[in-house]
Amino acid sequence: MNMCNLELITKQIILRSFSEENLEKTKKWANTELLHPLILRASFVSDEVHRKWYQNLLADPSKIIFAIQEKSAGVHIGNTGFYNYSCEHKRAEFWILIGEPEFWGKGLGFSTLQLMLRYGFADLALNKICLLVSVKNGPAIRLYERCGFFTEGILRKHYYIEDEYIDVYSMSLLRDEYDEIGLMPDKE
Ligand SMILES: CC(C)(COP(=O)(O)OP(=O)(O)OC[C@H]1O[C@@H](n2cnc3c(N)ncnc32)[C@H](O)[C@@H]1OP(=O)(O)O)[C@@H](O)C(=O)NCCC(=O)NCCS
Repeated sequence: MNMCNLELITKQIILRSFSEENLEKTKKWANTELLHPLILRASFVSDEVHRKWYQNLLADPSKIIFAIQEKSAGVHIGNTGFYNYSCEHKRAEFWILIGEPEFWGKGLGFSTLQLMLRYGFADLALNKICLLVSVKNGPAIRLYERCGFFTEGILRKHYYIEDEYIDVYSMSLLRDEYDEIGLMPDKE
């Protein structure tokens, strides 16, 4: 994780650099079975594994993580970030998890993605942001398509979660396409 105390803000949310205080809720979400097929996670995490994950995160410059805070309630509702960030190839992979279902469908994922796209293309000078999404995750696919992501292909039976193989779309957005669409986060 190669950044310190960064804050990105819109009307609805604040993205803050992930810190120790975000660990407990993050473990709860990682262990919520309902979320597993959506976030493509196959197993539960123990305290020890979770702690190691955090230590590795701090030491790994290719991973950048933010805690998502909903502004009016002032609560930590999820996490988002980039992994496999390559300065050389100007590319990174995006992920998002809003772990509290009562906050789904209110535009907070959209707001988060706007901020992350601006951060990725403007601040990190990326040329390409890519992601993998389960073909069954309708809300996430619609969110990515609304933001201009292009489906590059399908990775067949790429994950095995809860006794089921899951196909995923590989999607991406290029810097030129992002500039053309002209998406901008809401001002605070
Ligand atoms: C998938 C997820 C990130 C979506 O975030 P969300 O906050 O629930 O979704 P939003 O409210 O931002 O978007 C919902 C809809 O409104 C649209 N939308 C929201 N705000 C918008 C805006 N200002 N302008 C245009 N469209 C907007 C979205 O495209 C989407 O379209 P739909 O109504 O056809 O579904 C979130 O539900 C989540 O974290 N789910 C669990 C984990 C997960 O699936 N993660 C993704 C793994 S790839």
